[in-house]
Amino acid sequence: MDDKPEPMTNRSALRRLLAFARGHWRIAAGQFALAVAGTLLIFVFPGVVRWFMDEIIPQKRSDLIWRAGGLALLAFTVREVLFYFRTRVNCTFEQRMITDLRSQLHRKVELLPLGWFDHQSTGDILTKLADDVPATQRVILEGIEQGCTAVLQIIITAIVMLVADTQLALIVLAPTPLIAAGGWIYSRWVSPRATAAREATSVLNATLHDTITGIRQIKSFTAEEMRQWKFLAASQRLQEKQTRLMAAWAFYSPSMTLLGNGGLVLLLMAGSWWCVKGSMTPGQLMEFILLVGFLYEPIARLHGVNQTLLNGLSAAKRVFAILDNETEEDLDAGQPLDALRGEVEFNAVTFSYRADKPVLHDITLRAARHQTIAIVGATGSGKSTLFQLLTRFYDPQSGTITLDGTPIQNLSKRALRQSLAYVTQEAFLFAGTVRDNLLIGRPSATDDERRAPAPRPRPRLPQRRPHPPARRSHLRRRCEIRAPHPDRPRPTPRQPHQPHHRPSPQHHRPGRCHLRSPPRPHPRQRHA
Ligand SMILES: Nc1ncnc2c1ncn2[C@@H]1O[C@H](COP(=O)(O)OP(=O)(O)O)[C@@H](O)[C@H]1O
Ligand SMILES: [Mg+2]
Repeated sequence: MDDKPEPMTNRSALRRLLAFARGHWRIAAGQFALAVAGTLLIFVFPGVVRWFMDEIIPQKRSDLIWRAGGLALLAFTVREVLFYFRTRVNCTFEQRMITDLRSQLHRKVELLPLGWFDHQSTGDILTKLADDVPATQRVILEGIEQGCTAVLQIIITAIVMLVADTQLALIVLAPTPLIAAGGWIYSRWVSPRATAAREATSVLNATLHDTITGIRQIKSFTAEEMRQWKFLAASQRLQEKQTRLMAAWAFYSPSMTLLGNGGLVLLLMAGSWWCVKGSMTPGQLMEFILLVGFLYEPIARLHGVNQTLLNGLSAAKRVFAILDNETEEDLDAGQPLDALRGEVEFNAVTFSYRADKPVLHDITLRAARHQTIAIVGATGSGKSTLFQLLTRFYDPQSGTITLDGTPIQNLSKRALRQSLAYVTQEAFLFAGTVRDNLLIGRPSATDDERRAPAPRPRPRLPQRRPHPPARRSHLRRRCEIRAPHPDRPRPTPRQPHQPHHRPSPQHHRPGRCHLRSPPRPHPRQRHA
Protein backbone atom coordinates (compact mmCIF):
# COMPACT_ATOMS: atom_id res chain seq x y z
CA MET A 1 0.00 0.00 0.00
CA ASP A 2 2.91 2.32 0.65
CA ASP A 3 4.77 1.90 -2.63
CA LYS A 4 3.41 4.67 -4.78
CA PRO A 5 2.63 3.88 -8.41
CA GLU A 6 4.14 6.10 -11.08
CA PRO A 7 2.15 9.29 -11.56
CA MET A 8 -0.12 9.08 -14.58
CA THR A 9 0.59 11.41 -17.48
CA ASN A 10 -2.05 13.46 -19.27
CA ARG A 11 -1.59 11.30 -22.32
CA SER A 12 -2.17 8.00 -20.54
CA ALA A 13 -5.19 9.47 -18.73
CA LEU A 14 -6.62 10.56 -22.08
CA ARG A 15 -5.98 7.13 -23.57
CA ARG A 16 -7.84 5.49 -20.72
CA LEU A 17 -10.73 7.89 -21.05
CA LEU A 18 -11.02 7.14 -24.74
CA ALA A 19 -11.07 3.45 -23.93
CA PHE A 20 -13.85 4.24 -21.49
CA ALA A 21 -15.84 6.11 -24.16
CA ARG A 22 -15.40 3.14 -26.49
CA GLY A 23 -18.21 1.40 -24.62
CA HIS A 24 -20.52 4.10 -26.00
CA TRP A 25 -18.99 4.26 -29.47
CA ARG A 26 -22.27 4.20 -31.42
CA ILE A 27 -23.63 7.25 -29.73
CA ALA A 28 -20.22 8.98 -29.97
CA ALA A 29 -20.07 8.24 -33.70
CA GLY A 30 -23.59 9.62 -34.22
CA GLN A 31 -22.64 12.74 -32.36
CA PHE A 32 -19.51 13.20 -34.45
CA ALA A 33 -21.40 12.69 -37.74
CA LEU A 34 -23.91 15.37 -36.74
CA ALA A 35 -21.04 17.71 -35.85
CA VAL A 36 -19.32 17.17 -39.22
CA ALA A 37 -22.55 17.79 -41.16
CA GLY A 38 -23.17 20.98 -39.17
CA THR A 39 -19.61 22.17 -39.82
CA LEU A 40 -19.84 21.63 -43.58
CA LEU A 41 -23.02 23.68 -43.76
CA ILE A 42 -21.32 26.85 -42.51
CA PHE A 43 -19.53 27.28 -45.83
CA VAL A 44 -22.78 27.87 -47.68
CA PHE A 45 -23.19 31.45 -46.42
CA PRO A 46 -19.79 32.86 -47.51
CA GLY A 47 -20.40 31.33 -50.96
CA VAL A 48 -23.83 32.99 -51.13
CA VAL A 49 -22.33 36.37 -50.10
CA ARG A 50 -19.76 36.08 -52.85
CA TRP A 51 -22.58 35.21 -55.32
CA PHE A 52 -24.40 38.40 -54.30
CA MET A 53 -21.33 40.63 -54.48
CA ASP A 54 -19.82 39.33 -57.71
CA GLU A 55 -22.84 38.25 -59.78
CA ILE A 56 -26.27 39.23 -58.48
CA ILE A 57 -25.46 42.90 -57.63
CA PRO A 58 -23.07 43.83 -60.52
CA GLN A 59 -25.19 42.03 -63.15
CA LYS A 60 -28.44 43.34 -61.63
CA ARG A 61 -29.87 39.78 -61.47
CA SER A 62 -32.77 40.54 -59.12
CA ASP A 63 -34.40 37.26 -60.20
CA LEU A 64 -31.66 35.38 -58.30
CA ILE A 65 -32.10 37.24 -54.98
CA TRP A 66 -34.84 34.91 -53.68
CA ARG A 67 -33.01 31.81 -54.78
CA ALA A 68 -29.71 32.85 -53.19
CA GLY A 69 -31.42 34.10 -49.99
CA GLY A 70 -33.46 30.90 -49.77
CA LEU A 71 -30.34 28.78 -50.12
CA ALA A 72 -28.59 30.63 -47.28
CA LEU A 73 -31.66 30.36 -45.06
CA LEU A 74 -32.07 26.65 -45.81
CA ALA A 75 -28.43 26.02 -44.86
CA PHE A 76 -28.87 27.91 -41.58
CA THR A 77 -32.11 26.05 -40.79
CA VAL A 78 -30.65 22.61 -41.46
CA ARG A 79 -27.64 23.53 -39.35
CA GLU A 80 -29.79 24.51 -36.36
CA VAL A 81 -31.92 21.34 -36.71
CA LEU A 82 -28.72 19.29 -36.67
CA PHE A 83 -27.63 21.29 -33.65
CA TYR A 84 -30.85 20.34 -31.86
CA PHE A 85 -30.21 16.63 -32.44
CA ARG A 86 -26.57 17.02 -31.53
CA THR A 87 -27.46 18.58 -28.21
CA ARG A 88 -29.88 15.75 -27.45
CA VAL A 89 -27.37 13.05 -28.37
CA ASN A 90 -24.73 14.93 -26.43
CA CYS A 91 -26.83 14.92 -23.27
CA THR A 92 -27.51 11.20 -23.54
CA PHE A 93 -23.83 10.47 -24.09
CA GLU A 94 -22.81 12.72 -21.24
CA GLN A 95 -25.26 11.23 -18.77
CA ARG A 96 -24.44 7.62 -19.72
CA MET A 97 -20.73 8.22 -19.36
CA ILE A 98 -21.00 10.01 -16.07
CA THR A 99 -23.39 7.44 -14.59
CA ASP A 100 -21.08 4.66 -15.66
CA LEU A 101 -17.98 6.25 -14.23
CA ARG A 102 -19.69 7.30 -11.03
CA SER A 103 -21.12 3.86 -10.36
CA GLN A 104 -17.75 2.22 -11.13
CA LEU A 105 -16.14 4.56 -8.64
CA HIS A 106 -18.76 3.95 -5.96
CA ARG A 107 -18.48 0.20 -6.41
CA LYS A 108 -14.72 0.46 -6.14
CA VAL A 109 -14.92 2.53 -2.97
CA GLU A 110 -17.22 -0.10 -1.43
CA LEU A 111 -14.86 -2.93 -2.31
CA LEU A 112 -11.60 -1.32 -1.26
CA PRO A 113 -10.01 -2.79 1.86
CA LEU A 114 -10.39 -0.82 5.07
CA GLY A 115 -6.65 -0.18 5.14
CA TRP A 116 -7.09 2.08 2.09
CA PHE A 117 -9.47 4.34 3.99
CA ASP A 118 -6.90 4.76 6.77
CA HIS A 119 -4.85 6.84 4.33
CA GLN A 120 -7.66 8.90 2.80
CA SER A 121 -9.77 11.75 4.00
CA THR A 122 -13.51 11.48 3.46
CA GLY A 123 -13.57 14.98 1.99
CA ASP A 124 -11.05 13.92 -0.64
CA ILE A 125 -13.08 10.85 -1.62
CA LEU A 126 -16.24 12.95 -1.79
CA THR A 127 -14.51 15.53 -3.98
CA LYS A 128 -13.48 12.75 -6.31
CA LEU A 129 -17.03 11.46 -6.59
CA ALA A 130 -18.80 14.79 -6.70
CA ASP A 131 -16.37 17.08 -8.57
CA ASP A 132 -13.79 15.00 -10.36
CA VAL A 133 -16.22 12.67 -12.11
CA PRO A 134 -18.14 15.50 -13.85
CA ALA A 135 -14.84 17.25 -14.69
CA THR A 136 -13.53 13.98 -16.14
CA GLN A 137 -16.58 13.56 -18.28
CA ARG A 138 -16.11 17.08 -19.66
CA VAL A 139 -12.84 15.82 -21.18
CA ILE A 140 -14.87 13.50 -23.39
CA LEU A 141 -17.59 15.97 -24.14
CA GLU A 142 -15.63 19.13 -24.64
CA GLY A 143 -12.23 17.75 -25.34
CA ILE A 144 -13.29 15.17 -27.80
CA GLU A 145 -16.58 16.41 -29.17
CA GLN A 146 -15.90 20.16 -29.18
CA GLY A 147 -12.17 19.74 -29.75
CA CYS A 148 -12.61 17.38 -32.70
CA THR A 149 -15.27 19.51 -34.35
CA ALA A 150 -13.18 22.65 -33.84
CA VAL A 151 -10.12 21.00 -35.40
CA LEU A 152 -12.29 19.68 -38.21
CA GLN A 153 -13.68 23.16 -38.87
CA ILE A 154 -10.18 24.65 -38.90
CA ILE A 155 -8.94 22.03 -41.38
CA ILE A 156 -11.95 22.35 -43.70
CA THR A 157 -11.82 26.17 -43.60
CA ALA A 158 -8.09 26.14 -44.32
CA ILE A 159 -8.62 23.82 -47.31
CA VAL A 160 -11.52 25.94 -48.64
CA MET A 161 -9.33 29.08 -48.29
CA LEU A 162 -6.29 27.51 -49.93
CA VAL A 163 -8.41 26.39 -52.87
CA ALA A 164 -10.12 29.81 -53.16
CA ASP A 165 -6.93 31.90 -52.98
CA THR A 166 -3.60 30.47 -51.89
CA GLN A 167 -1.87 33.81 -51.29
CA LEU A 168 -4.62 35.25 -49.08
CA ALA A 169 -5.00 31.92 -47.29
CA LEU A 170 -1.31 31.92 -46.37
CA ILE A 171 -1.62 35.45 -44.93
CA VAL A 172 -4.63 34.42 -42.88
CA LEU A 173 -2.94 31.23 -41.68
CA ALA A 174 0.32 33.03 -40.75
CA PRO A 175 -0.57 33.53 -37.04
CA THR A 176 -1.78 29.93 -36.54
CA PRO A 177 1.67 28.42 -35.69
CA LEU A 178 2.05 31.14 -33.05
CA ILE A 179 -1.40 30.38 -31.69
CA ALA A 180 -0.57 26.64 -31.57
CA ALA A 181 2.72 27.35 -29.77
CA GLY A 182 0.89 29.60 -27.28
CA GLY A 183 -1.60 26.82 -26.57
CA TRP A 184 1.18 24.30 -26.02
CA ILE A 185 3.10 26.55 -23.60
CA TYR A 186 -0.10 27.34 -21.73
CA SER A 187 -0.97 23.64 -21.36
CA ARG A 188 2.46 22.84 -19.95
CA TRP A 189 2.21 25.63 -17.44
CA VAL A 190 -1.38 25.01 -16.39
CA SER A 191 -1.42 21.21 -16.11
CA PRO A 192 0.45 20.80 -12.78
CA ARG A 193 -1.24 23.89 -11.36
CA ALA A 194 -4.70 22.59 -12.24
CA THR A 195 -3.83 19.37 -10.36
CA ALA A 196 -2.67 21.42 -7.37
CA ALA A 197 -5.92 23.41 -7.42
CA ARG A 198 -7.95 20.17 -7.41
CA GLU A 199 -5.94 18.94 -4.45
CA ALA A 200 -6.52 22.22 -2.63
CA THR A 201 -10.26 21.78 -3.25
CA SER A 202 -10.06 18.33 -1.69
CA VAL A 203 -8.27 19.67 1.38
CA LEU A 204 -10.94 22.33 1.78
CA ASN A 205 -13.73 19.77 1.46
CA ALA A 206 -11.98 17.46 3.92
CA THR A 207 -11.77 20.30 6.44
CA LEU A 208 -15.43 21.12 5.98
CA HIS A 209 -16.37 17.47 6.29
CA ASP A 210 -14.41 17.14 9.54
CA THR A 211 -16.08 20.23 10.95
CA ILE A 212 -19.53 18.83 10.23
CA THR A 213 -18.88 15.30 11.49
CA GLY A 214 -16.84 16.48 14.47
CA ILE A 215 -19.17 19.32 15.45
CA ARG A 216 -19.88 17.82 18.88
CA GLN A 217 -16.16 17.54 19.64
CA ILE A 218 -15.53 21.06 18.34
CA LYS A 219 -18.25 22.47 20.57
CA SER A 220 -17.24 20.49 23.64
CA PHE A 221 -13.60 21.58 23.30
CA THR A 222 -14.71 25.12 22.27
CA ALA A 223 -12.39 24.68 19.30
CA GLU A 224 -14.53 26.79 16.94
CA GLU A 225 -11.83 29.47 16.43
CA MET A 226 -9.11 26.92 15.77
CA ARG A 227 -11.26 25.12 13.21
CA GLN A 228 -12.17 28.41 11.56
CA TRP A 229 -8.46 29.23 11.19
CA LYS A 230 -7.83 25.83 9.69
CA PHE A 231 -10.70 26.27 7.27
CA LEU A 232 -9.53 29.79 6.34
CA ALA A 233 -6.02 28.50 5.67
CA ALA A 234 -7.37 25.79 3.34
CA SER A 235 -9.70 28.28 1.73
CA GLN A 236 -6.92 30.79 1.14
CA ARG A 237 -4.69 28.14 -0.39
CA LEU A 238 -7.42 27.27 -2.85
CA GLN A 239 -7.99 30.96 -3.55
CA GLU A 240 -4.28 31.44 -4.35
CA LYS A 241 -4.20 28.44 -6.67
CA GLN A 242 -7.37 29.46 -8.49
CA THR A 243 -6.19 33.07 -8.80
CA ARG A 244 -2.92 31.97 -10.40
CA LEU A 245 -4.81 29.76 -12.84
CA MET A 246 -7.20 32.54 -13.75
CA ALA A 247 -4.34 35.04 -14.11
CA ALA A 248 -2.72 32.73 -16.66
CA TRP A 249 -6.04 32.35 -18.47
CA ALA A 250 -6.57 36.13 -18.37
CA PHE A 251 -3.26 36.56 -20.22
CA TYR A 252 -3.55 33.58 -22.55
CA SER A 253 -7.04 34.14 -23.90
CA PRO A 254 -6.72 37.81 -25.07
CA SER A 255 -3.18 37.23 -26.42
CA MET A 256 -4.48 34.49 -28.65
CA THR A 257 -7.45 36.60 -29.75
CA LEU A 258 -5.06 39.48 -30.53
CA LEU A 259 -2.95 37.20 -32.73
CA GLY A 260 -6.07 36.12 -34.60
CA ASN A 261 -7.30 39.70 -35.06
CA GLY A 262 -3.82 40.68 -36.28
CA GLY A 263 -4.28 38.12 -39.06
CA LEU A 264 -7.68 39.62 -39.88
CA VAL A 265 -6.24 43.16 -40.21
CA LEU A 266 -3.42 41.81 -42.39
CA LEU A 267 -6.00 40.12 -44.59
CA LEU A 268 -8.03 43.33 -44.97
CA MET A 269 -4.92 45.32 -45.92
CA ALA A 270 -3.53 42.78 -48.38
CA GLY A 271 -6.96 42.03 -49.88
CA SER A 272 -7.72 45.72 -50.42
CA TRP A 273 -4.31 46.13 -52.07
CA TRP A 274 -5.13 43.30 -54.53
CA CYS A 275 -8.64 44.70 -55.11
CA VAL A 276 -7.13 48.13 -55.95
CA LYS A 277 -4.68 46.42 -58.31
CA GLY A 278 -7.62 44.55 -59.88
CA SER A 279 -6.34 41.06 -59.20
CA MET A 280 -9.20 40.33 -56.76
CA THR A 281 -12.91 41.13 -56.60
CA PRO A 282 -14.58 42.69 -53.49
CA GLY A 283 -16.79 39.56 -53.38
CA GLN A 284 -13.74 37.32 -53.03
CA LEU A 285 -12.39 39.55 -50.25
CA MET A 286 -15.74 39.52 -48.46
CA GLU A 287 -15.92 35.72 -48.72
CA PHE A 288 -12.47 35.50 -47.21
CA ILE A 289 -13.29 37.82 -44.34
CA LEU A 290 -16.27 35.62 -43.49
CA LEU A 291 -14.15 32.49 -43.82
CA VAL A 292 -11.61 33.94 -41.40
CA GLY A 293 -14.38 34.08 -38.82
CA PHE A 294 -14.91 30.35 -39.35
CA LEU A 295 -11.20 29.79 -38.86
CA TYR A 296 -10.65 31.88 -35.74
CA GLU A 297 -13.94 31.03 -34.01
CA PRO A 298 -12.95 27.34 -33.53
CA ILE A 299 -9.40 28.42 -32.61
CA ALA A 300 -10.88 30.57 -29.81
CA ARG A 301 -13.07 27.63 -28.86
CA LEU A 302 -9.98 25.40 -28.69
CA HIS A 303 -8.46 27.67 -26.03
CA GLY A 304 -11.51 27.06 -23.83
CA VAL A 305 -11.38 23.36 -24.67
CA ASN A 306 -7.71 23.31 -23.73
CA GLN A 307 -8.56 24.78 -20.34
CA THR A 308 -11.35 22.25 -19.75
CA LEU A 309 -9.19 19.40 -20.98
CA LEU A 310 -6.34 20.21 -18.62
CA ASN A 311 -8.69 20.54 -15.70
CA GLY A 312 -10.54 17.38 -16.66
CA LEU A 313 -7.38 15.34 -17.11
CA SER A 314 -6.20 16.36 -13.63
CA ALA A 315 -9.55 15.12 -12.35
CA ALA A 316 -9.35 11.95 -14.47
CA LYS A 317 -5.96 11.07 -12.99
CA ARG A 318 -7.44 11.32 -9.49
CA VAL A 319 -10.42 9.17 -10.47
CA PHE A 320 -8.23 6.53 -12.13
CA ALA A 321 -5.93 6.47 -9.12
CA ILE A 322 -8.89 5.16 -7.11
CA LEU A 323 -9.98 2.73 -9.81
CA ASP A 324 -6.44 1.31 -9.93
CA ASN A 325 -6.40 0.22 -6.31
CA GLU A 326 -6.73 -3.43 -5.54
CA THR A 327 -10.07 -4.38 -4.06
CA GLU A 328 -10.67 -6.81 -1.25
CA GLU A 329 -10.82 -10.41 -2.37
CA ASP A 330 -14.26 -11.61 -3.45
CA LEU A 331 -16.63 -11.54 -0.47
CA ASP A 332 -18.00 -14.92 -1.46
CA ALA A 333 -14.66 -16.67 -1.98
CA GLY A 334 -14.13 -19.38 0.62
CA GLN A 335 -16.20 -21.82 2.62
CA PRO A 336 -19.75 -21.03 3.66
CA LEU A 337 -20.71 -21.38 7.32
CA ASP A 338 -23.35 -24.01 7.93
CA ALA A 339 -24.29 -24.53 11.54
CA LEU A 340 -22.70 -21.89 13.71
CA ARG A 341 -21.80 -22.79 17.28
CA GLY A 342 -19.89 -19.64 18.03
CA GLU A 343 -16.51 -20.69 19.41
CA VAL A 344 -13.84 -18.12 18.77
CA GLU A 345 -10.13 -18.72 19.22
CA PHE A 346 -7.14 -16.46 18.74
CA ASN A 347 -3.85 -18.39 18.59
CA ALA A 348 -0.61 -16.43 18.97
CA VAL A 349 -2.00 -13.54 16.92
CA THR A 350 0.36 -10.68 16.14
CA PHE A 351 -0.78 -7.64 14.24
CA SER A 352 0.16 -4.05 13.50
CA TYR A 353 -1.47 -1.48 11.23
CA ARG A 354 1.93 -0.03 10.44
CA ALA A 355 5.19 -1.95 10.47
CA ASP A 356 6.82 0.40 12.98
CA LYS A 357 3.97 0.35 15.50
CA PRO A 358 3.00 -3.09 16.89
CA VAL A 359 -0.55 -3.25 18.28
CA LEU A 360 -1.23 -6.88 19.21
CA HIS A 361 1.58 -9.21 20.14
CA ASP A 362 1.16 -12.96 20.51
CA ILE A 363 -2.45 -12.87 21.66
CA THR A 364 -4.11 -16.16 22.55
CA LEU A 365 -7.68 -16.31 23.80
CA ARG A 366 -10.70 -18.55 23.58
CA ALA A 367 -14.39 -17.63 23.76
CA ALA A 368 -16.52 -20.72 24.21
CA ARG A 369 -20.09 -21.04 22.99
CA HIS A 370 -22.50 -18.83 24.98
CA GLN A 371 -19.65 -17.47 27.05
CA THR A 372 -19.64 -13.75 27.81
CA ILE A 373 -16.21 -12.18 27.99
CA ALA A 374 -15.32 -8.58 28.73
CA ILE A 375 -12.03 -7.40 27.31
CA VAL A 376 -10.77 -4.56 29.42
CA GLY A 377 -7.82 -2.32 28.71
CA ALA A 378 -6.64 1.24 28.35
CA THR A 379 -7.65 3.25 25.32
CA GLY A 380 -5.42 2.28 22.44
CA SER A 381 -4.47 -1.07 23.93
CA GLY A 382 -5.98 -2.94 20.98
CA LYS A 383 -9.48 -4.05 22.07
CA SER A 384 -11.23 -2.81 18.94
CA THR A 385 -8.41 -4.23 16.85
CA LEU A 386 -9.37 -7.73 18.04
CA PHE A 387 -12.78 -7.24 16.43
CA GLN A 388 -11.28 -5.74 13.30
CA LEU A 389 -9.29 -8.96 12.91
CA LEU A 390 -12.22 -11.22 13.72
CA THR A 391 -14.33 -9.55 11.02
CA ARG A 392 -11.31 -9.76 8.65
CA PHE A 393 -11.24 -6.03 8.05
CA TYR A 394 -7.52 -6.64 8.50
CA ASP A 395 -5.50 -9.88 8.53
CA PRO A 396 -2.94 -10.65 11.25
CA GLN A 397 0.74 -10.81 10.34
CA SER A 398 1.06 -14.10 12.21
CA GLY A 399 -1.06 -16.51 14.22
CA THR A 400 -4.52 -17.84 13.45
CA ILE A 401 -8.07 -16.97 14.34
CA THR A 402 -10.65 -19.72 14.18
CA LEU A 403 -14.42 -19.76 14.30
CA ASP A 404 -15.78 -23.17 15.35
CA GLY A 405 -12.34 -24.58 14.63
CA THR A 406 -12.14 -23.28 11.03
CA PRO A 407 -9.49 -20.64 10.33
CA ILE A 408 -11.42 -17.52 9.36
CA GLN A 409 -9.20 -17.05 6.25
CA ASN A 410 -10.87 -20.18 4.85
CA LEU A 411 -14.38 -18.81 5.36
CA SER A 412 -16.14 -16.54 2.91
CA LYS A 413 -16.02 -12.99 4.20
CA ARG A 414 -19.74 -12.62 3.61
CA ALA A 415 -20.58 -15.71 5.67
CA LEU A 416 -18.16 -14.68 8.40
CA ARG A 417 -19.43 -11.13 8.69
CA GLN A 418 -23.07 -12.20 8.53
CA SER A 419 -22.46 -14.56 11.43
CA LEU A 420 -21.19 -11.78 13.69
CA ALA A 421 -23.12 -9.08 15.49
CA TYR A 422 -20.89 -6.14 16.10
CA VAL A 423 -21.90 -2.94 17.82
CA THR A 424 -19.34 -0.41 16.73
CA GLN A 425 -17.84 2.17 19.03
CA GLU A 426 -18.93 4.95 16.70
CA ALA A 427 -22.63 4.61 15.99
CA PHE A 428 -23.72 5.63 12.53
CA LEU A 429 -27.10 6.38 11.01
CA PHE A 430 -27.49 6.29 7.24
CA ALA A 431 -29.44 9.13 5.71
CA GLY A 432 -33.07 8.04 5.45
CA THR A 433 -35.71 6.82 7.84
CA VAL A 434 -35.29 4.76 11.01
CA ARG A 435 -37.00 1.97 9.09
CA ASP A 436 -34.33 2.12 6.36
CA ASN A 437 -31.63 1.90 9.02
CA LEU A 438 -33.27 -1.06 10.70
CA LEU A 439 -33.43 -2.90 7.40
CA ILE A 440 -29.74 -2.50 6.49
CA GLY A 441 -28.79 -5.89 7.85
CA ARG A 442 -31.88 -7.72 6.65
CA PRO A 443 -33.84 -5.98 3.91
CA SER A 444 -36.34 -8.87 3.86
CA ALA A 445 -37.42 -8.43 7.51
CA THR A 446 -41.18 -8.20 7.92
CA ASP A 447 -42.84 -5.27 9.68
CA ASP A 448 -43.57 -7.48 12.70
CA GLU A 449 -39.96 -8.55 12.99
CA ARG A 450 -38.88 -4.97 12.66
CA ARG A 451 -41.31 -3.81 15.35
CA ALA A 452 -40.37 -6.53 17.84
CA PRO A 453 -38.87 -4.79 20.89
CA ALA A 454 -35.20 -4.00 20.48
CA PRO A 455 -32.86 -5.12 23.23
CA ARG A 456 -31.51 -2.50 25.59
CA PRO A 457 -28.38 -1.14 24.05
CA ARG A 458 -26.29 -1.25 27.23
CA PRO A 459 -26.63 -2.92 30.57
CA ARG A 460 -27.31 -0.38 33.28
CA LEU A 461 -24.30 0.33 35.46
CA PRO A 462 -25.53 0.16 39.05
CA GLN A 463 -22.85 2.28 40.75
CA ARG A 464 -23.10 5.30 38.49
CA ARG A 465 -25.89 7.54 37.44
CA PRO A 466 -26.10 7.18 33.71
CA HIS A 467 -25.83 10.28 31.52
CA PRO A 468 -29.16 11.10 29.97
CA PRO A 469 -28.67 9.63 26.52
CA ALA A 470 -28.98 11.98 23.59
CA ARG A 471 -32.03 10.87 21.64
CA ARG A 472 -30.19 10.54 18.41
CA SER A 473 -27.24 8.55 19.67
CA HIS A 474 -29.59 6.32 21.65
CA LEU A 475 -31.57 5.75 18.50
CA ARG A 476 -28.38 5.06 16.58
CA ARG A 477 -27.36 2.33 18.96
CA ARG A 478 -30.81 0.74 18.86
CA CYS A 479 -30.64 0.73 15.09
CA GLU A 480 -27.20 -0.83 15.13
CA ILE A 481 -28.12 -3.63 17.45
CA ARG A 482 -31.13 -4.44 15.36
CA ALA A 483 -29.69 -3.87 11.94
CA PRO A 484 -27.29 -6.69 11.15
CA HIS A 485 -29.70 -9.58 11.62
CA PRO A 486 -29.10 -12.52 9.33
CA ASP A 487 -31.86 -14.15 7.37
CA ARG A 488 -32.88 -16.29 10.26
CA PRO A 489 -36.09 -16.23 12.29
CA ARG A 490 -35.92 -13.87 15.20
CA PRO A 491 -36.50 -15.50 18.55
CA THR A 492 -38.74 -13.91 21.15
CA PRO A 493 -36.77 -11.28 23.05
CA ARG A 494 -37.35 -12.56 26.56
CA GLN A 495 -36.61 -16.17 27.31
CA PRO A 496 -39.35 -17.63 29.58
CA HIS A 497 -36.83 -19.35 31.83
CA GLN A 498 -34.97 -16.08 32.50
CA PRO A 499 -37.79 -13.74 33.47
CA HIS A 500 -35.70 -11.19 35.36
CA HIS A 501 -32.69 -11.18 33.19
CA ARG A 502 -32.35 -8.16 30.95
CA PRO A 503 -31.49 -9.53 27.56
CA SER A 504 -28.26 -8.41 26.05
CA PRO A 505 -28.05 -8.56 22.26
CA GLN A 506 -26.62 -12.05 22.21
CA HIS A 507 -29.69 -13.49 23.88
CA HIS A 508 -31.65 -12.53 20.80
CA ARG A 509 -29.18 -13.83 18.35
CA PRO A 510 -28.62 -17.57 18.60
CA GLY A 511 -27.42 -17.65 15.01
CA ARG A 512 -24.50 -15.31 15.64
CA CYS A 513 -21.48 -14.71 17.76
CA HIS A 514 -22.03 -11.56 19.76
CA LEU A 515 -19.23 -9.21 20.49
CA ARG A 516 -19.58 -5.67 21.64
CA SER A 517 -16.90 -3.11 21.68
CA PRO A 518 -16.73 -1.32 25.02
CA PRO A 519 -18.84 1.75 25.61
CA ARG A 520 -17.48 4.95 24.15
CA PRO A 521 -15.39 6.92 26.64
CA HIS A 522 -15.90 10.60 27.18
CA PRO A 523 -14.24 12.49 24.32
CA ARG A 524 -11.69 14.09 26.65
CA GLN A 525 -10.43 10.70 27.73
CA ARG A 526 -10.03 9.41 24.24
CA HIS A 527 -6.98 8.92 22.20
CA ALA A 528 -6.85 11.08 19.11
N1 LIG B 1 -6.80 2.13 11.28
C1 LIG B 1 -5.71 2.28 12.05
N2 LIG B 1 -4.52 2.60 11.50
C2 LIG B 1 -3.42 2.74 12.25
N3 LIG B 1 -3.40 2.59 13.58
C3 LIG B 1 -4.56 2.27 14.19
C4 LIG B 1 -5.78 2.12 13.45
N4 LIG B 1 -6.77 1.81 14.31
C5 LIG B 1 -6.21 1.78 15.52
N5 LIG B 1 -4.90 2.06 15.45
C6 LIG B 1 -3.93 2.10 16.57
O1 LIG B 1 -3.90 0.80 17.12
C7 LIG B 1 -3.85 0.86 18.53
C8 LIG B 1 -5.02 0.07 19.09
O2 LIG B 1 -6.22 0.72 18.77
P1 LIG B 1 -7.63 0.17 19.18
O3 LIG B 1 -7.71 -1.27 18.87
O4 LIG B 1 -8.64 1.06 18.56
O5 LIG B 1 -7.61 0.39 20.74
P2 LIG B 1 -8.79 0.28 21.80
O6 LIG B 1 -10.02 -0.19 21.11
O7 LIG B 1 -8.29 -0.66 22.83
O8 LIG B 1 -8.95 1.66 22.36
C9 LIG B 1 -3.87 2.32 18.89
O9 LIG B 1 -2.53 2.72 19.09
C10 LIG B 1 -4.42 3.01 17.67
O10 LIG B 1 -3.87 4.30 17.55
MG1 LIG C 1 -11.80 0.74 20.82
